Amino acid sequence: MSLTPNPTIIFVSATQGIPVPGQNLVYRQDITIDVDNEPLNGGILTKSVALGIDPWLRSRMVYEYKPNTPVLGYGIGVVLRSENPKFQVGDYVQARSHPFAHYAVLSEEAGTIRALKNDAGLPWTAYLGVLGLAGETAWVGYKAYAEATKGETIYISTGAGAVGSAVCQVAKAEGLRVIASAGSDTKVEFLKEIGVDVAFNYKKQDVGTVLKESGGIDIYWDNVGGKTLETVMGCMNRYGRIVVCGFASEYNLPPAEWHGNKSFFFALVKNLTINGFIIPDTIAKFGDFDFEAEVTKMVKEGRMKAREEPSDKLEDAMKMLGDCLIGANEGKGTNAKELDGQGITVLLNDAILADV
Ligand SMILES: NC(=O)c1ccc[n+]([C@@H]2O[C@H](COP(=O)([O-])OP(=O)(O)OC[C@H]3O[C@@H](n4cnc5c(N)ncnc54)[C@H](OP(=O)(O)O)[C@@H]3O)[C@@H](O)[C@H]2O)c1
Repeated sequence: MSLTPNPTIIFVSATQGIPVPGQNLVYRQDITIDVDNEPLNGGILTKSVALGIDPWLRSRMVYEYKPNTPVLGYGIGVVLRSENPKFQVGDYVQARSHPFAHYAVLSEEAGTIRALKNDAGLPWTAYLGVLGLAGETAWVGYKAYAEATKGETIYISTGAGAVGSAVCQVAKAEGLRVIASAGSDTKVEFLKEIGVDVAFNYKKQDVGTVLKESGGIDIYWDNVGGKTLETVMGCMNRYGRIVVCGFASEYNLPPAEWHGNKSFFFALVKNLTINGFIIPDTIAKFGDFDFEAEVTKMVKEGRMKAREEPSDKLEDAMKMLGDCLIGANEGKGTNAKELDGQGITVLLNDAILADV
């Protein structure tokens, strides 16, 4: 038996703040591995080639890692031994739960493993970033949810990050006007290099002011949540879309201290679609789906029922308005008799619309 050093980052304990090296995470150089005889239990033994640092390691610390076990994240290794027929010695593989260590025993039960061909001969690190989780998030999220049209304006927060910079470039290639922000001047320079039309440092310039001066936003790719999301909502153009990708501004705070609407986090984790709409705008965009003809048929055939609360007197309209505003009405308030069939209807919705 010969033991080889296997330096490893060990997760010790979760923290609500930034993980402290030596406290929440420990670098252990005393760990060893018997490369030739380590039991594989149907898995593979790899020599690590590259490991990826992603913001989501922070939440994995809270929800997934067990104390005193290796940190797990996206990693790439070359196979040294294999008991899994899908992977041969010499293959390069990418694992979603790769221990942060020099050597790793990987099993498919513990997380996705896929062989990487890399016919393009790119650096392996590309498969942890632009061709890994970040690039995939940008590409798939944009194609699935941005519903972008050439000429529209998109704003990307954390635009210089791994996900954000990929979104900037996909959007630019598709003919969008791209606005992006980042937290340092060097990151802003990078945004300019990749063709961003309006690049700014959100720590020096107010997001709302920049977006308003830029004529509003059709698509917001949200990497940060929190206050920025609230600000951007006020700068969205009609029919805008918000792709809720991440909450980088909140990850290190307890949920009670999150800014604004905390429930937006559910939009992310449950893949929710939330559509606001004002009916005249919606009809202007989609038409009315044959509203009158279709619903008339349903009413005549008894497939659409409506409850009315009729009154004989015009003066009742005043009280009925109050009743419907507090739910004291039992049905749609109408007044027709006194008006000889002309009809007036107390419209709660119109009252609200008038305020918008
Ligand atoms: N939905 C998904 O499936 C999915 C998958 C992968 C990633 N994501 C999310 O996508 C986002 C970007 O991920 P990434 O891997 O590309 O990371 P990244 O952008 O490379 O790194 C995170 C960045 O967040 C910004 N940031 C940190 N604290 C902030 C704060 N308090 N306020 C505003 N910005 C802050 C920083 O950039 P600045 O210096 O520019 O502020 C930091 O560099 C993250 O929110 C991540 O969780 C989502």
